[in-house]
Amino acid sequence: MTAVSDVSLDPIVYLNGELVPLSEAHVPVLDRGFIFGDGIYEVAPLYPHASGRTAFRFRHHLARLARSLDKIGIVNPFDDAGWRELIERVVAANEADAGLRADQDAIAYVQITRGVAKRGHAFPAGIQPTVFVMVTPLNLPDAAQRAQGVRCVTAEDRRWLNCDIKSVSLLGNVLMAQYAAENDSFETIQFRDGMLTEGSSSNIWMVKNGVLYAPPRSHKILEGIRYGLIEELTSECGIRFEAREIAEAELRAADEILVSSATKEVLPVTQLDGRPVGNGKPGAVFAALYAAYQRAKAKEAQQAQQAQQGVESESRERVIA
Ligand code: PDD
Repeated sequence: MTAVSDVSLDPIVYLNGELVPLSEAHVPVLDRGFIFGDGIYEVAPLYPHASGRTAFRFRHHLARLARSLDKIGIVNPFDDAGWRELIERVVAANEADAGLRADQDAIAYVQITRGVAKRGHAFPAGIQPTVFVMVTPLNLPDAAQRAQGVRCVTAEDRRWLNCDIKSVSLLGNVLMAQYAAENDSFETIQFRDGMLTEGSSSNIWMVKNGVLYAPPRSHKILEGIRYGLIEELTSECGIRFEAREIAEAELRAADEILVSSATKEVLPVTQLDGRPVGNGKPGAVFAALYAAYQRAKAKEAQQAQQAQQGVESESRERVIA
């Protein structure tokens, strides 16, 4: 058994058709995920509600997963219903095992690699993808982080030019996250050719004169599932949104900067490279979008509960009939 240093629990995970404890989940060293970083991943939040769990914006996560797989020529091993069922099985196994409380926020991590083959760069024929699913508790940012905002540093974006693919080849992102950690910062905000791209594992937003701006969708950023969500929330909140290139100097003169991701939701950035952003406090656009985000979660939870009640009453009717 291999101990994984910072995994205090031993969740039940899915690997290639089986549910096993994480400590017993093994992949051959010739897996192309290990040898080449040849694979795709997804990270989706699972929020608890009174009668189960909502995989928040899951349809969008599954669509992005399908797009990423398609872009690197791996056949999607499941359809959407198959993925939902699989995640539900992993959640149920962890709740039964007491590794995950029913009232705990969780995160679903899904990874598909091209599979195991003799080492050779081009795609080998006839191999089976490796499929891995892990569900672990999610600790969302706390109220203090939201009230004070977070510190970020900046760096040049030196990653490859297929950032729209959610690839497990994350060395460029890892180096940027490490740079933030070494500078006691939450995230590294990157610029390519003087224009804002994104964080090491998040999207970045700028507010100027009440308008919210983000770099346009392109191969230079990963289109976060929160990208589309926040875009929708701006119209609900009456905030003007514009997707356009943002120059480094503009970001440094922003009234507000926001960071978004599945694990962080939306957070205010109040310090950039040691200087205050705007007045150095979380702003009104952050406050409006954070509140709208929480309403979106509540709405999806309510819809999920209603759908579940519908299924339950239908099956009662069938039993009665
Ligand atoms: N990262 N850009 C990059 C490079 C990311 O890795 C992420 C997410 C995002 C935001 O996407 P979303 O809103 O769908 O979380 C943008 C995840 C959380 C991760 O790698 O753990």
